Amino acid sequence: MKLAAATLVSLGLLAAPAFADPIRDIAAVEAIVRDRCQMCHMEEEDAAPALGTVKKLEPSIIAEMLINGSMAALTPDLTAQMKREIAVYLSGKPLPATTDLPEVTPLH
Ligand code: HEC
Repeated sequence: MKLAAATLVSLGLLAAPAFADPIRDIAAVEAIVRDRCQMCHMEEEDAAPALGTVKKLEPSIIAEMLINGSMAALTPDLTAQMKREIAVYLSGKPLPATTDLPEVTPLH
């Protein structure tokens, strides 16, 4: 039994937290935005709005864009909760819990 549990942990099956992979690390969120959003969201002239404009949106709008909108194809490796954290980081506003994901409050 001990061995089976160890095997499951090494496979990552028992290590899974109650909620999917939260980041909760401001440096990690900043790195994602810097490396994966900024190049397109640099200047207001481009097709993509500048990050400063994105930051004025409600976090629910940003999260929706990342989870179900046109930004989803660019972020297939990020979980919905990670995307909610990015939305909270950008907007500076909290997101309430959903039926399956916990509340996200801004990091400082
Ligand atoms: C390959 C370029 C590209 C990358 C990378 C990219 N975006 Fe976008 N994004 C766009 C374009 C173009 C639009 C506007 C067209 C559209 O709505 O699909 C947009 C729209 C958006 C919107 C909606 C803005 C509005 O006013 O409705 C949000 C929010 C957004 N992006 C967030 C992000 C975040 C956060 C990231 C990083 C995880 C990201 N984007 C990465 C190109 C990109």
